[in-house]
Amino acid sequence: MYKLKEIAKDVFYVGVNDRQKQLFENLWPLPYGVSYNAYLIMDEKTVLMDTVDACFADIFLKKISDALDGRTLDYLVVNHMEPDHAGSIRLLRQQYPEVQIVGNSKTFGMLEGFHGITEGLHEVKEGDTLSIGRRQLQFYMAPMVHWPEVMVTYETTDKILFSADAFGTFGTLDGGILDDEMNIEPYWEEMMRYYSNIVGKYGSPVQRALQKLAALEIETICSLHGPVWRTHKEKTIALYDRLSRYEGEDGVVIIYGSMYGNTEQMAEVIASSLAANGVKNIVMHNVSKSHASYIIKDVFKYKGVIIGSPTYSNQLYPEVESILSKIQIREVKNRLFGYFGSFTWAGAAVKRLTAFGEEMKWEVVGVPAEQKQSMKPDNYDACWALGEAMAERIINK
Ligand code: FEO
Repeated sequence: MYKLKEIAKDVFYVGVNDRQKQLFENLWPLPYGVSYNAYLIMDEKTVLMDTVDACFADIFLKKISDALDGRTLDYLVVNHMEPDHAGSIRLLRQQYPEVQIVGNSKTFGMLEGFHGITEGLHEVKEGDTLSIGRRQLQFYMAPMVHWPEVMVTYETTDKILFSADAFGTFGTLDGGILDDEMNIEPYWEEMMRYYSNIVGKYGSPVQRALQKLAALEIETICSLHGPVWRTHKEKTIALYDRLSRYEGEDGVVIIYGSMYGNTEQMAEVIASSLAANGVKNIVMHNVSKSHASYIIKDVFKYKGVIIGSPTYSNQLYPEVESILSKIQIREVKNRLFGYFGSFTWAGAAVKRLTAFGEEMKWEVVGVPAEQKQSMKPDNYDACWALGEAMAERIINK
């Protein structure tokens, strides 16, 4: 029944789209959904590359059965054990009891823990090869991209890299599968959000994996989320490379909390000053309105970060404190940092933001602006000067 997309000769896309889930990992909004990709190779042996979220097992198993057309499934390669990909393994095993599951020793520890599967396993180590007929599969470990058991699989005939989460993005596949057969422009922003939200903490492991993969000649990248990259693979690799080096674009994200608009007014003056002094990319996030997912994305995207908060119960405004912790978890490096705060009777926000900048080892730009109650001319001037100092640093490097 299914006319499955053949992404290379005898290599079929058998993934699914999730247009139902509101929050990925129950944390990150999915306004454009997400795809769980899986691929089936038909050679002398039949090989499935990963499974999908268990919610979609029914349609997934039907696609596989249609593609196999009466043949059995010989191998399942498990590149990643997170349940958005490994959730259907147990059901797959029930349907194909003879299938050999290919993974590394860490994969198999998780396979037992999540699914109670301990038999029919084929263990591979770094650089091992599995012959499946005309084609060879080679395995490379990519620990912490994004879990410790992650590995990638390289198919040597058509030079296809099955890259696990790497080079993935949020966003469903709305008909097209291959990047050159669809409009891929909407995916770049979602790729940054996916990377920063999900993989962002693991910049060093991503760099190590990229260096390892640089030795391979790659024609096609089959990630577990989003389009199959062929024509735009260099741009995709470059984006992952830049993000994992924490290299920001020229621009500033202003993140602030405000109860009655006084701190927000400071943010507005800083933004006006940035613009007046030549910064074009300025993004403002009111923490009570913008979801943390988008704020984190912009912290990864831009090299300038300016954070402001009112003092609240002698601490930071709670939603500002919350976003600081999410940035800290991801160990974002090399940002230019400006900050400001307000208070009514005793200031604590600027002090806490000073400590945050020190913990992050970020370069402090300008003099922190601090305001008591409403904005006075000297507060306005301090905010303007902060914007000016950041603009100078962004534009003149
Ligand atoms: Fe898409 Fe780390 O799972």
